[in-house]
Amino acid sequence: ERPSRRVFSIQSHVVHGYAGNKAAVFPLQINGFHVDFVNSVHFSNHTAYANLRGERLDSDQLGAIYEGLSLNGLTTYSHLLTGYCGNPGFLQRIGGIVKDLKEKNENLLYVCDPVLGDHGKYYTPRELLPIYKEVIVPLADVLTPNCFELGELSGRKIENEADCLSAVDAIHDLGVSRIVVTSGIPSKEEETQLIALTSTRNKDGTATRHRFVFPKRSGNFVGTGDLFASLLIVWLEECGGNLAEAVGRVIGALQDVIGVTIEVAKDYAPPPSCKLPELRFIEGRRYLLQPSHVVPSVKL
Ligand code: ATP
Ligand code: PLP
Ligand code: MG
Ligand code: NA
Ligand code: MG
Repeated sequence: ERPSRRVFSIQSHVVHGYAGNKAAVFPLQINGFHVDFVNSVHFSNHTAYANLRGERLDSDQLGAIYEGLSLNGLTTYSHLLTGYCGNPGFLQRIGGIVKDLKEKNENLLYVCDPVLGDHGKYYTPRELLPIYKEVIVPLADVLTPNCFELGELSGRKIENEADCLSAVDAIHDLGVSRIVVTSGIPSKEEETQLIALTSTRNKDGTATRHRFVFPKRSGNFVGTGDLFASLLIVWLEECGGNLAEAVGRVIGALQDVIGVTIEVAKDYAPPPSCKLPELRFIEGRRYLLQPSHVVPSVKL
C-alpha cells in the first residue's frame, strides 16, 4: 500500500509560541496528515525574543532517531518537510535521510524551505549554502526560497522580476521541478504589496509560471515561512499537485492568520521581551482548514 498523508518533519521546537514544527505540525494534523516530527532544537521561544534558552540536537542524535524509526520499518512516508537548519553537519545528515526516504518510497514529495536569511542578511552559517546547492536542492521536489535565498542559491543579483525568473531557471537546472519564491521580490510598490512567484518546469523543458500580488500588512511576523511550507503540503494534496492553485490558497490562509494576529494584538500587547506578536494559530484555526479567499494569480 502506498503511504498517503504521512509527513516526516525535521524543524525547530519552541515551547512558547509558533515557529518551526510549532508552526507546521498543527496545520498538517488538523488537515488529516499524520506527522512524525523531529525537533532539531528544543528552545524556550523563537529567536526574536530578548532571551533564549534550550538545547540543539546534533547530527548523531538525528541519525540515532532516524535509525530507530528505520529499524522498526517506520520510514515509509508520503512527504518530507525541512526548514531552518543551523548547522552544516546536521544538513549533510538530512541529505542522507532524504536519499533513504526516497528509496523507501519513490513517490515521496520533499518540500524544502532552504532557509539562509532574508533582506540581504544571512541568519544561518554560510557553510550551509554549498550543501544546499550540491546535496539538498537536487533532492527536493518543491523549493520555497525567499528572494534573498534565491539570489544566494543561484549566485545571481536580483533587482527585478526578470532577474528573478532567470534565477529560478538556474535553480530548476539544479534538479528541482517546482519552485515558489515566497517573498522579497523587488518592485516599485514593495512598501505596500508583496509578490510571490511560482514556477513549474514541465517535462518538455518549458516552465509554467504565475505571479501573485497581495497587500503587505504592517509589522513583521515569525513563523510565516514555516506555516507557508506546511500548508503548501496540504494544498498540493488537495489541488492534485497543481502548484499555482495550491499557492493561491496558501497565501489566502496566511493573510487570514496574519489578519487575526493583528486584530488580537490590538487587545493584547506582546511582552516587553519581544516586539513581534506571535501568530494566532489558535484563534485563526478555521483558516488553516479553509482560507476565506483564494489569492488570484496572473499566468506569465
Ligand atoms: P523563509 O525564510 O522561511 O524562506 P520567507 O522569508 O519566504 O521564509 P516570509 O517572508 O515570512 O517567509 O513570507 C512567507 C509568506 O508569509 C508570504 O508569502 C506571505 O504570504 C506571508 N507574509 C509574511 N509577512 C507578511 C506581511 N507583512 N504581509 C502580508 N503577508 C505576509
Ligand atoms: N525556528 C526558530 C527557532 C526561529 O526562531 C525562527 C525565527 O525566528 C524560525 C524557525 C523561522 O521562522 P520563519 O517561518 O518566520 O522563517
Ligand atoms: Mg522572510
Ligand atoms: Na520561503
Ligand atoms: Mg522560515
